Amino acid sequence: MSAKIQGYLITFEGGEGAGKTTQVAKLKQRFQTLGREVVVLREPGGTVISEQIRDVVLGKKNLAMADTTEVLLFQAARAQIYQELVIPALKAGKVVLMDRSRDSSVVYQGMVRGFGRRLIEQLNNISTQKTVPNLTLLLDVPVKIGLKRRRDTGETDRLDNQAQSFHDQVRQAYLTLAKENHLQRWQVVDASQPVEKVEQALWQIIETKLKLS
Ligand code: TYD
Repeated sequence: MSAKIQGYLITFEGGEGAGKTTQVAKLKQRFQTLGREVVVLREPGGTVISEQIRDVVLGKKNLAMADTTEVLLFQAARAQIYQELVIPALKAGKVVLMDRSRDSSVVYQGMVRGFGRRLIEQLNNISTQKTVPNLTLLLDVPVKIGLKRRRDTGETDRLDNQAQSFHDQVRQAYLTLAKENHLQRWQVVDASQPVEKVEQALWQIIETKLKLS
């Protein structure tokens, strides 16, 4: 992140049914209890324009979508949310929690769809204006458990309905990134534990990193 940005960007990453959305909501409450201003966003989405792009890119009727279209739509949604919300919030010194961001594209489009990490990182640098998270929390869960959770909630989208092998590749790709731990920003949490345990583990990491306690 460039020097003039004072805030703190935390991204939550992981495969389907890892519980990112639930955890982000819980952690938001914890920050608010401490009186910290916190902004919660999701990708793709988060702004009026990006939510429209989300409907297109995840829409179940859009089965004919070309992979390149998918790559560029995720980036378009990202460009909008960074310009409109993320960068201003960070400049204002806020904590920003994002349910997915640039690493989702590295994993899904770069490593699994095969566009390559280099290309996707170049696009990410354009869409985020070179903003890199201070902390990336990988909620890791075995694919079978994640998919079962997702089916139980009954909310699936175009990408959820991929073969199990797709989701296996996603999990392995995330673990590869976390292992490389570029910029020491990655932390892995076992998300197959009960929700409260996952929350505790995440909060402990955040407290340590942000020196909250
Ligand atoms: P969402 O319903 O937000 O999923 P989840 O609850 O699993 O986070 O759907 C986002 C889907 O879009 C998910 O399958 C991952 C995919 N995705 C990408 O492929 N590339 C990206 O850059 C982003 C942000 C998401």
